[in-house]
Amino acid sequence: MKQCAQILVSGFLASALLLGPAVVPAAAADIVTDAGATDLRAALATPQDIAEGKRVAEASCAGCHGLNGVAKAKNTPHIAGQRPSYIYLELRTYQTGGRGNTPMNNAVKFLSDDALVKVAAYYANLEPAPPAAVATGKPGAAKPDPLSAGKAAASGCAGCHGENGVTSTPGMPNLSGLDPKYVVAAVKAYKGGQRKDDMMKTLVSAIADPELENIALYFALQKPGKAKTPAPGNLAAGKSAAVACAGCHGEGGVSTGSAPSLAGQDAQYFAAAMKAYKDGSRSDPAMKAPAASVDAAMIKDLGAYFASQLPQAPRVRKPLTTEEMAQRCDRCHGVAGNSTDPRLPALAAQRPEYLERVMHAYQKGERRSKAMSAMLDGLSENDIADLAAYYSRQKARSVVYVPLPAK
Ligand code: HEC
Ligand code: HEC
Ligand code: HEC
Ligand code: HEC
Repeated sequence: MKQCAQILVSGFLASALLLGPAVVPAAAADIVTDAGATDLRAALATPQDIAEGKRVAEASCAGCHGLNGVAKAKNTPHIAGQRPSYIYLELRTYQTGGRGNTPMNNAVKFLSDDALVKVAAYYANLEPAPPAAVATGKPGAAKPDPLSAGKAAASGCAGCHGENGVTSTPGMPNLSGLDPKYVVAAVKAYKGGQRKDDMMKTLVSAIADPELENIALYFALQKPGKAKTPAPGNLAAGKSAAVACAGCHGEGGVSTGSAPSLAGQDAQYFAAAMKAYKDGSRSDPAMKAPAASVDAAMIKDLGAYFASQLPQAPRVRKPLTTEEMAQRCDRCHGVAGNSTDPRLPALAAQRPEYLERVMHAYQKGERRSKAMSAMLDGLSENDIADLAAYYSRQKARSVVYVPLPAK
């Protein structure tokens, strides 16, 4: 982009149209396209170039992209108002086969480099497509986020485990402060019968895995609280005995490893769990020896001690909303997908099914881009659909040209 700014300052080009400094943000200077390409000819085209580009478009492109650059057919992208250097670079990539798509590969096969520059300038110069309408019921349309979904589903657990997982019923485990992975595993163990509790088995049998993960996430992100239940016993004696447990369950029962946190646990549930490990009705190799080493009186004291400790929120990140995800994309693609770098594609108002398809293509490595495969790594099908829907609904701003002062 330095190059562009220099051109602007020196007035080196005799072009009548020039991409202004207003559309070249400082951040853009750091961005290098995957091709490392800085060819800005299409961004610096003259009205005459654009008129010639229109003739190329009539002959070779309009059948699919429309002469106005607003495509009617599914999976055919809108290219009106797309950033000029990006269009040119993609046309080059189709020409060399770096981006495989038979209709496009054929469309550009016999075009000269000059024709590609001009047709890119022509389409970039057009008014972009209007944003897509919000389609209800489609992916990405007003779908509850994982946290709200988890909250709704967790309402079925509140009767026993308490609002926010903080129990006020003796014998019911406090779920507050438990790592979501542990909660998910425990519920699956009830479902699969490895952990025997007929009531829990019945209660959770109908809960599908994604829903269960949302519930666990919801509990993990609530303000932690101690069980609001009685915990008789000798705290001081419990505290010294708990030293033997800290290696796995953490200081004060706040676990940092895979063993569950015990801080704030309901004392009655705690005692029942210890008894179950002792008599073998709940079995776990790690708990066998610790359970055998304590008697009923010590269990009471340990229960009182752990119940007195404040649970801590497990380290989980709140999932990003679509808007938050999009903010990361906007660093390169511009605010609301309106790229201000002529080499980087605008996403605003693009056809959603096209956006979705190319994002999958990056994920699968069919379309190659280091930046994009890194950005899309780990995003779910839902995230992709949501992002595609989000960008398709943004208002697209046309490429801003500023007239170069006459020489
Ligand atoms: C036979 C139909 C057809 C013709 C003719 C055609 N295109 Fe395309 N074009 C497509 C399809 C389909 C895609 C999406 C391909 C893909 O996913 O890679 C596409 C993709 C593109 C892209 C990539 C858009 C983006 O956002 O990455 C550009 C740019 C483009 N076409 C420009 C042109 C130009 C310029 C011409 C004329 C020289 C042309 N096309 C002719 C069907 C066509
Ligand atoms: C009718 C009361 C009740 C309801 C409703 C209930 N549970 Fe439970 N839950 C229990 C009891 C009792 C236990 C202890 C069972 C045992 O001893 O293993 C338990 C155990 C658990 C455990 C294991 C806790 C630990 O520390 O190992 C998890 C996790 C759990 N429940 C999650 C849920 C979820 C999620 C829901 C809602 C979908 C739910 N429960 C609904 C009563 C209930
Ligand atoms: C070697 C590691 C280790 C040590 C030491 C250990 N635990 Fe555990 N503990 C575990 C693991 C792992 C689990 C989870 C097992 C399961 O899912 O049933 C567990 C589970 C528990 C549970 C059930 C928690 C729940 O939410 O259901 C209690 C209660 C418990 N431990 C108490 C203790 C006490 C008290 C001590 C010290 C006397 C102790 N543990 C020492 C590893 C350990
Ligand atoms: C570090 C810069 C950068 C970030 C951040 C970034 N992209 Fe991109 N994106 C690019 C580049 C460069 C290209 C063009 C790559 C190519 O030539 O195929 C691109 C291309 C795309 C395309 C293809 C556009 C078209 O018209 O075919 C889509 C869709 C896209 N990005 C979506 C996203 C989404 C969604 C995010 C956020 C999750 C994101 N990008 C984040 C740099 C970035």
